[in-house]
Amino acid sequence: MSKTKLIISKNGFIKIEGDFEIVDAEGMPYNVQGRTSLGLCRCGLSANKPFCDGSHRNGFEHDAKAFDLPPMKAK
Ligand code: FES
Repeated sequence: MSKTKLIISKNGFIKIEGDFEIVDAEGMPYNVQGRTSLGLCRCGLSANKPFCDGSHRNGFEHDAKAFDLPPMKAK
């Protein structure tokens, strides 16, 4: 079983690959028909959310560069 990986693309989708399950707010799974890789919309423009339909090409810009989050606050 491969580790799930999320790849934040420049000006586009979040690619998810590996072993994953995508569920809705009620926990019902999307039937991804056996796909082991797909794009999740992060631009808000897709007509097929939560999946990317290519609409990000209409002007979505975000130069994804990795950075460190601040340390977690103690509880
Ligand atoms: S990221 Fe592709 S349509 Fe939103």
